[in-house]
Amino acid sequence: MFNFSLHAPTKVLFGKGQIAALAKEIPAGARVLVTYGGGSIKRNGVLDAVRAALKEHTSFEFGGIEPNPDYATLMQAVHLAREQQVDFLLAVGGGSVADGTKFIAAAIPYAADPWLILAGNRTQRPTGAVPMGVVLTLPATGSEMNSGAVISRRETGDKLAFQSPHVMPRFAVLDPETTYTLPPRQTANGVVDAFVHTVEQYLTYPVNAKLQDRLAEGILATLIEEGPKLLAAPEDYDARANVMWAATMALNGYVGVGQPQDWATHMLGHEITALHGLDHAQTLAIVLPAMLQERRSPKRDKLLQYAERVWGLRDGDEEQRITAAIQATRDFFERMGVPTRFSGHGISEPRVPELIQKLEAHGMTALGEHRDVTLDVSRRVLEATA
Ligand code: NZQ
Ligand code: ZN
Repeated sequence: MFNFSLHAPTKVLFGKGQIAALAKEIPAGARVLVTYGGGSIKRNGVLDAVRAALKEHTSFEFGGIEPNPDYATLMQAVHLAREQQVDFLLAVGGGSVADGTKFIAAAIPYAADPWLILAGNRTQRPTGAVPMGVVLTLPATGSEMNSGAVISRRETGDKLAFQSPHVMPRFAVLDPETTYTLPPRQTANGVVDAFVHTVEQYLTYPVNAKLQDRLAEGILATLIEEGPKLLAAPEDYDARANVMWAATMALNGYVGVGQPQDWATHMLGHEITALHGLDHAQTLAIVLPAMLQERRSPKRDKLLQYAERVWGLRDGDEEQRITAAIQATRDFFERMGVPTRFSGHGISEPRVPELIQKLEAHGMTALGEHRDVTLDVSRRVLEATA
């Protein structure tokens, strides 16, 4: 196991009715900006519950943060927050609202051009941020309990990530009942995203990190068992609760510590969203099976472990078991209703040369746990996804 340091200070308030408890987590005199997306929280009562919880606080609202949150939209919120001297942010929504709010939190006190938070170098990282909390309505990204955010800039076709300990949410409210209104596509996206987060930190090479492995296998098994139930019965509380906690645990640090990590599938996926406009998880469902196929040799030992422990595949020789595990992964995504080829999303062919150009421009030329996913390897993966 590698050395690691882990600091996961987000307080989790999990379960029915927990929105009511959030006011205690925000300083009494705070000026709070509530941020949200396109309006789902108005229709399902979550915004009313948040307003009721904040009735003793001075609060403002900023709506309209779009999926794959856009830099220009977020800068409007930064201006509003500066004007109103906001000193606490409350993100209410999915990963896009949480990520967008992390950017707003870092940009408010940032002295230079805020674009440098995303595109700048190490010396330009944020040195502070306005504190924030999250009310999560879409289990998927783990953003509610991690320090990362992914921001898009449609104007330039970029989708870039940043990480900062300053934007780690102070608390996260996870009420599974808020997820009942998710459209099937978003429910499925969440399950696939959490699955791939786990795989990116688990399916690399063995370093004898036994607990992290078993945690990863437990998360994957939970998603495989509970995910399909959500499509059949959207108001199955226990299934919603299990998926919600699994998605948070998939990317709050515990699975990945002390282990090599991959993330090549995500980096290709971000470029696909920026160029083709597919949902984040849709891109992962397309790339992951092709990536595993391409990387079956360096990932051999872990693929065999995954085949046996996650999919119960014990028959046949090693090559057959690996092939069957990759196929089982693809079948699971398809069973969740997320097509695993571009054609399934109505795109006859990916624009491979442009995707490769963007990867190069973003410095994504040596990806994966061995840093040997070169642009040539990425090209082969993308060519296998049509
Ligand atoms: O905008 P509203 O009206 O709220 O509707 C949203 C949105 O249209 C809807 N939705 C959310 N909760 C709902 C609901 N509809 C009905 N009922 C509810 N309870 O779902 C749609 C998608 O929301 P979004 O937040 O975009 O989805 P998701 O949570 O999948 O987030 C995706 C974003 O997160 C980034 C992705 O790149 C993408 O930009 N990621 C962030 C990560 C992180 N911070 O660690 C890691 C991930 O790998 C990922 O890259
Ligand atoms: Zn993801």
